[in-house]
Amino acid sequence: MIGRASGRPVTITGLGVHAPERVMTNDELAMLVDTNDEWIVDRTGIRERRVAKPEEAMTDVALPAARRALEQAGAEAADIDLLIVATVTPDTLFPTTSALLADQLGAPRAAAYDLLAGCTGFVYALAQAYSLVATGLSHKALVVGGDLLSKIVDYTDRGTCVLFGDGCGAVVLEPCERGGFLGFELGADGAGGVHLAMPGGGSRMPTTPESVAARQHFITMNGREVFKFATRVMVSSAEALLQECGKTVADIDCYVPHQANIRIIDHAVKKLGFPLEKTVVNVDRYGNTSSGSIPLALADGSDDGRLAPGQLVLMTGMGAGLTWGSVLIEWTHHTNGATV
Ligand code: ACO
Repeated sequence: MIGRASGRPVTITGLGVHAPERVMTNDELAMLVDTNDEWIVDRTGIRERRVAKPEEAMTDVALPAARRALEQAGAEAADIDLLIVATVTPDTLFPTTSALLADQLGAPRAAAYDLLAGCTGFVYALAQAYSLVATGLSHKALVVGGDLLSKIVDYTDRGTCVLFGDGCGAVVLEPCERGGFLGFELGADGAGGVHLAMPGGGSRMPTTPESVAARQHFITMNGREVFKFATRVMVSSAEALLQECGKTVADIDCYVPHQANIRIIDHAVKKLGFPLEKTVVNVDRYGNTSSGSIPLALADGSDDGRLAPGQLVLMTGMGAGLTWGSVLIEWTHHTNGATV
């Protein structure tokens, strides 16, 4: 799917992020599996990640992020009429994390649902919320993207456990006079889905003592295949959207890519021709937080002044599904993330 924004202009008026306090370093992982700090930094750029406590669930991390986004937007929770949570690690499959969060925030009028699109979830959710606000069905939407991947990572598998971490972000979407969202490109390739999966727990392989014993309820990944896919779509999705919107790389003030691996980001930056100083990178501090990755990076971009009103911002995500997606937005409000 690809298209320019139409209908009434819609923008992001508030941004909030949150991550669990506990920092897990590469040296700690080296005590669990046969790995080392040098290999992880060299192959991924990751130095540390946040890890939730056993009793912490998605809503515990989403609530502070959502409250901060509302505060920054000057919005009351009671005025939110749409709440989408993009996550692959909900508190429970049902009730949904979005319904629980709406209750915790005090947003009883909100249509609330969870959205599953792997690490592209936040980008998909932005497109959905944009559409509902642009058509006038929603007036104030809250989009949350976040994951506690530590809950589904196999800490005996060195090929995956070094990559993932926990974190969350939230944004408020409202109509605006000018600027805001300019276009979206979204896609999916289920044929490649097998390369990044959690096999157990669905209708294909319900949870049984055997599926648990066979470690089927953790992330499984063919790293090389995902790497090839990622380097391809990070470039093609961005190029397609820029062309659709009549823009070039030179028009972009701030590039916010999904934070999976510094080598994937470096490849995209070189191929697309973005200067590195316009690219937000925080994979070293958080690892891959799936749907939390882009909002956490937006917060860093806001806090260091690279994301300011009037600037053209390109976000591109990719992940399980396999899925990918890009968003182009003219930033309109002063934002900051600073809660982590
Ligand atoms: N520590 C030390 N050695 C390791 C580790 C580790 N943690 N993991 C793998 N190795 C070894 C391998 O066993 C292999 O050894 P061998 O040559 O003796 O067989 C060697 O390192 C090289 O392995 P490769 O898999 O070729 O390493 P590569 O350079 O491809 O890096 C990585 C692996 C980091 C996983 C890379 O493929 C990658 O980043 N892929 C994309 C992953 C990704 O982005 N996933 C998330 C997508 S988004 C989402 O939806 C969650």
